[in-house]
Amino acid sequence: MTTSTDAAPAPHLREDLLTPRFYTTEINKAARTDLERQRPVFEAMLGEMEADYNRDHFDRKAPLQRLRALDPDQKAAYESYLVRSCVSEFSGFLLFKELSRQLQSAQRPELSRLFNLMARDEARHAGFLNRALVAEGIEIDLPALSGKRPITWFPLNWVLYSVYLSEKIGYWRYILIDRHLKANPDNAFAPLFDFFEPWCQDENRHGDIFNMLIRCWPGLNSGLRGRLLSRFFLWSVFLTHSLTVCERGNFYRLLGMEPDRFDEAVLRQTNRTARRAFPVVFMLDGPAFFQLRDQLVDTYRQLRAAQGQPLRRLRLQARFAGLLLRQFLQPMEASGLSPSRSQAVEPLP
Ligand SMILES: [Fe+2]
Ligand SMILES: [Fe+2]
Repeated sequence: MTTSTDAAPAPHLREDLLTPRFYTTEINKAARTDLERQRPVFEAMLGEMEADYNRDHFDRKAPLQRLRALDPDQKAAYESYLVRSCVSEFSGFLLFKELSRQLQSAQRPELSRLFNLMARDEARHAGFLNRALVAEGIEIDLPALSGKRPITWFPLNWVLYSVYLSEKIGYWRYILIDRHLKANPDNAFAPLFDFFEPWCQDENRHGDIFNMLIRCWPGLNSGLRGRLLSRFFLWSVFLTHSLTVCERGNFYRLLGMEPDRFDEAVLRQTNRTARRAFPVVFMLDGPAFFQLRDQLVDTYRQLRAAQGQPLRRLRLQARFAGLLLRQFLQPMEASGLSPSRSQAVEPLP
């Protein structure tokens, strides 16, 4: 990564623990996906992806220069948001492209096509964010970045659960920012935000595709396994979101949003949406889950500030671990999902 003014990346652009990783999975197992259980839904989704509703949306010529000057802290917040989003979209592209390639070799042309079309969308998203970065004078060499980073291997069912959730949480993040900026147009300081509404529909479709793929594997969204997978992935995706949003709150404040409230709204909506795919979801009626989140974020901040104080760090780590466990064990409720039922494609609001 280079900036036009600097040979070394600025500190706010360094990658840390929360930065998205690159993933791969059990391709042989993926190639055994039994689409016949979901044939009508599969055809409908492939048709939607082929229709390519956003073909003209991501206009390569649209100017992405910022509309107003930002002070150095604000500029750093905006740029690190762009970098993280761009890397995250690009890691989606790599996963889908690789799956598409391998499924083609495994003689599953239909599945390969579906993944190729999702890779197309993610490449557009990453490309658009990359253009916004170039407008800031920053160039990331994405292909080189993927070569340098470790690739994390996940079992197929982990990929199905975690990608489903990251697509749906991505949908809610984009749409909630879009709604907020439509209500507060003075805060829309970059033309990039004008593109979020149709953009989030891509993520929504990808999420629905993963829901369909989960349903192709009997037993994956029911029984003890389904309950454990639901709990683990809802908890870990929510935790990562809370730590990222609250730790990097300046970007959201720059948009005129309260980071904690934005995080809470995204989590509540994603949890509600996950009822269509997972057998259980968290009970978020009361404040308990978010009180624990506040304590987790607070402890996390203290931990980061306690470099060079081993005893204090040890105490904070123990506290953090205890809070993690309590949040993980928060009550869940049945979503009323019937595993055998064919999935209806419902548009989100
Ligand atoms: Fe995307
Ligand atoms: Fe996506």
